[in-house]
Amino acid sequence: MKRSTVNLLITLAAGSLAFSALTSCTDHSKPNIELIQDMMESPAIKPQEYDESSPNHSGMRVPPEGTQPIGFTPYRYAKDFAGAAGNKNPMSGDFSEDNLKVGLKFYVTNCALCHGEHGQGGEKLLIGEKMAVKPPSLLSAKIQGWKDGEIYHVITMGQGVMGPYASHIPQAYRWQVVNYIRTLQKENK
Ligand code: HEC
Repeated sequence: MKRSTVNLLITLAAGSLAFSALTSCTDHSKPNIELIQDMMESPAIKPQEYDESSPNHSGMRVPPEGTQPIGFTPYRYAKDFAGAAGNKNPMSGDFSEDNLKVGLKFYVTNCALCHGEHGQGGEKLLIGEKMAVKPPSLLSAKIQGWKDGEIYHVITMGQGVMGPYASHIPQAYRWQVVNYIRTLQKENK
């Protein structure tokens, strides 16, 4: 390549670098021009990306069998409703304002749409109306007679057409939801 051509190319490259540096400082409405892209594209696999080397071809890794996250206690009654009845509520009888506030928050967010704001059941509510199996009342004699562990079990595992809420309500807060349901029952006795 001729010397003059090389000089021209260098000048052009320097010019465009300077241009992009200038414009990038002043105009924030558009993304910068990526002149040298090496550092822009990371080879790291993002969670939703396809990954050839992973067993399920997903960037998201499945934890190895038998492991558990720190602070997580496995639910030992997953297939044992009878056993769940013996699962003691560590907050049994604690109807303090703070506890009930947490219970109320998770109840209203996750349960009220089907079981009703006061636990009255969802036959006439927008969602329940369209469900083949109506969300039953949580104020019934049946649920009043249930042990706390049984309600906890249904929240964790679901029941019939009701899905599990384990991923919506952290373990630590499920008992507070149970306590909140107990206050709804007391109010409606
Ligand atoms: C999408 C609607 C829906 C949501 C949301 C929902 N449920 Fe349910 N729930 C149902 C239905 C329907 C049943 C009856 C299922 C069956 O037995 O097949 C049920 C059953 C129950 C039962 C057992 C009642 C009985 O008489 O057998 C309890 C307890 C319960 N739900 C509590 C909860 C709690 C607590 C939440 C919130 C964490 C919740 N549900 C969220 C629809 C829902």
